[in-house]
Amino acid sequence: MDFQLSDEQKMIQQAARDFAIQECLPGVIERDEKQKFPKEQIEKLADLGFMGMMVKPEYGGAGLDTISYVLAMEEISKVDASVSVCMSVNNSLVCYGLQEFGSEEQKQQYLVPLAQGKKNGELYIGAFLLSEPEAGSDATSQHTTAEDKGDHYLINGTKNWITNGSSASVYLVIAQTDRLKGSKGINAFIVEKNWPGVTVAAKENKLGIRGSDTHTILLTDVKVPKENRIGEEGFGFKFAMKTLAGGRIGIASQALGIAGGAFERARDYAKTRKSFGTEIMNHQVIAFKLADMALKIEVARLLCLKAAWEKDQHLNYDISSSMAKLYASETAMWVSVEAVQVHGGYGFVKEYHVERLMRDAKITQIYEGTSEVQRIVISRGVLK
Ligand code: CAA
Ligand code: FAD
Repeated sequence: MDFQLSDEQKMIQQAARDFAIQECLPGVIERDEKQKFPKEQIEKLADLGFMGMMVKPEYGGAGLDTISYVLAMEEISKVDASVSVCMSVNNSLVCYGLQEFGSEEQKQQYLVPLAQGKKNGELYIGAFLLSEPEAGSDATSQHTTAEDKGDHYLINGTKNWITNGSSASVYLVIAQTDRLKGSKGINAFIVEKNWPGVTVAAKENKLGIRGSDTHTILLTDVKVPKENRIGEEGFGFKFAMKTLAGGRIGIASQALGIAGGAFERARDYAKTRKSFGTEIMNHQVIAFKLADMALKIEVARLLCLKAAWEKDQHLNYDISSSMAKLYASETAMWVSVEAVQVHGGYGFVKEYHVERLMRDAKITQIYEGTSEVQRIVISRGVLK
């Protein structure tokens, strides 16, 4: 077993670290306050090849492995989780889903520009539309319908909580075609945002990842050509689950980065802040807190890398990605709360960043399957 990163993986890690410090850190507090989508940062990430990291070069991607993706997600999330969630959705839900399950025509038309993050010089990214007001964790309970009209489908329904909702050009939409068939009657479709019947509705005012644009999307008699269905009739729910298994590695890495960012700030602060005549790191209770943080982060990193490695080896990674997501998100929450504590009152104000990391950490326990859903997946796996 080799725990060394390759030279290429180290190079990607360093590039992501530099990008986070140089491009994401300036203005991160203001973007959070004003809920400003980090368009400039995403465009630059696209130029670096980070919006289609695991897509094969013949489809416009960087052709990197999932381990490199984890490393890049971790570094960027240490600084700005609003940037990294946009990157995660485009890479591991949209591009992965199309590369793995799309037809050659779908790949040429949609994957190539999505992997580059640009089309005709303009930002071109995707969104993943599974959740609905009545179908979050209970994802098979789709109310959105896709009526089979022969040469096309007619889609009607409401999707909510959609990341990249207003900035994406392409939506992967999950909808029910045949209710009698349950999850086997669900399809997945490629829908363009500017098609008639698609409305970008309310933007959410959120606790964390406030730079990310989260919207409700209304679909009213949206005519979708048959060739825009992904996979065979009835493949939509399996498509969503298989794609989410990879997506969860992305969110696990996001959580890992949030935890790492909070830890580094707490560690550096503890080395300089003095109380009772000494740096606070010399109070054992603080030192031990830092030790526990470092330990949990290391375990989370190993779980993320193992899940990524299994994906790269084409092994089944359903359980390991859920384990990584569950553990890393619980770690992000715990570490970021403790990082605020290490900062005392200074941790409670914006300039020290840890309060934002703490707010951002919470979402990692909710989206792409709550911690309870990850326990469902893991328990079913171990009890099988
Ligand atoms: N691979 C292939 N097939 C799978 C699968 C997988 N990983 N998981 C389930 N399936 C199949 C099952 O085998 C079953 O098919 P058969 O009937 O042929 O056996 C079918 O799908 C239905 O599966 P279940 O019976 O397990 O379904 P369930 O109703 O019990 O739900 C669940 C399972 C794990 C809870 C699932 O509904 C789930 O993952 N819910 C959470 C949804 C979620 O993660 N949403 C995220 C939205 S995207 C997002 O959040 C993006 C973002 O924030 C940035
Ligand atoms: P519910 O499913 O109603 O769950 C409520 C509570 O009950 C949770 O604690 C849950 O764990 C628990 N619970 C539910 N069922 C069970 C059970 N069987 N056993 C034990 N506990 C259970 N979705 C998308 O499709 N695309 C996106 O891009 C996207 N981005 C998002 C961005 C943000 C900022 C947010 C907040 C959400 C996003 N989501 C997205 C939706 C997200 O995936 C859902 O919020 C999540 O899956 C939970 O669904 P819910 O909110 O309906 O909660």
